[in-house]
Amino acid sequence: MMRKLLVAPSLLACDFTRLAEEVNAVEQAGADWLHLDVMDGHFVPNISFGPVIVEAVHRVAHRPLDVQLMIEHPEQYVDAFLKAGTDHLTVHVESDGLKSPATLTTFLRDLRRRKIRAGLSVKPKTPAEALRPYLDEIDQILVMTVEPGFGGQAFMPDMLDKIRTCREWFAGDIVIDGGINPQTAALVVEAGANVLVAGTAIFRQPNYHHAIQALRAAA
Ligand code: DX5
Repeated sequence: MMRKLLVAPSLLACDFTRLAEEVNAVEQAGADWLHLDVMDGHFVPNISFGPVIVEAVHRVAHRPLDVQLMIEHPEQYVDAFLKAGTDHLTVHVESDGLKSPATLTTFLRDLRRRKIRAGLSVKPKTPAEALRPYLDEIDQILVMTVEPGFGGQAFMPDMLDKIRTCREWFAGDIVIDGGINPQTAALVVEAGANVLVAGTAIFRQPNYHHAIQALRAAA
């Protein structure tokens, strides 16, 4: 069963001097989810924003907040992000605080108990097999198609096989993040993905509606 194609603008690429306007603009332009990239400067070589910004977006948003924690210790901050209004929480299988399978399983089950969609993400060098033990505990997989940390990077085509493998194993939402544009959107959807995270391909375009439509049309 083909899952619905969804487009999730990544606010990392938005104009933060006009955050509320940018949220309204991409929602009017057809965004399905709002993707928020949280970075701690340790798990990835960049620092972005925390619960304060998630809470600000939650105050003006009408679409689900799809929060990706690119941080070493998600277990220390999960309550703050849920309190801020997170709807979907994606953590990395590589995070230092979740390295124990028992800890990660408990973490994911706790999200679902709290009625939060649970997601698990893998960096480019991490094989899909790292996700296998947790597939029954999650609602979405996020496959990074760039090294996490910065927007505007080039898509990594050798991630396509990983997407295909994930789709063979997992019937839920497969989210792709990194270098997504109309050309790469076609490739990842053909490989089995159904949720497109895009920052540059939307926020660096003059018309957000046309940019989102172009992603949908390409897929
Ligand atoms: C990297 C970030 C970016 C961002 C999307 O850590 O996660 O992938 O969301 O950036 P673009 O769409 O500009 O590649």
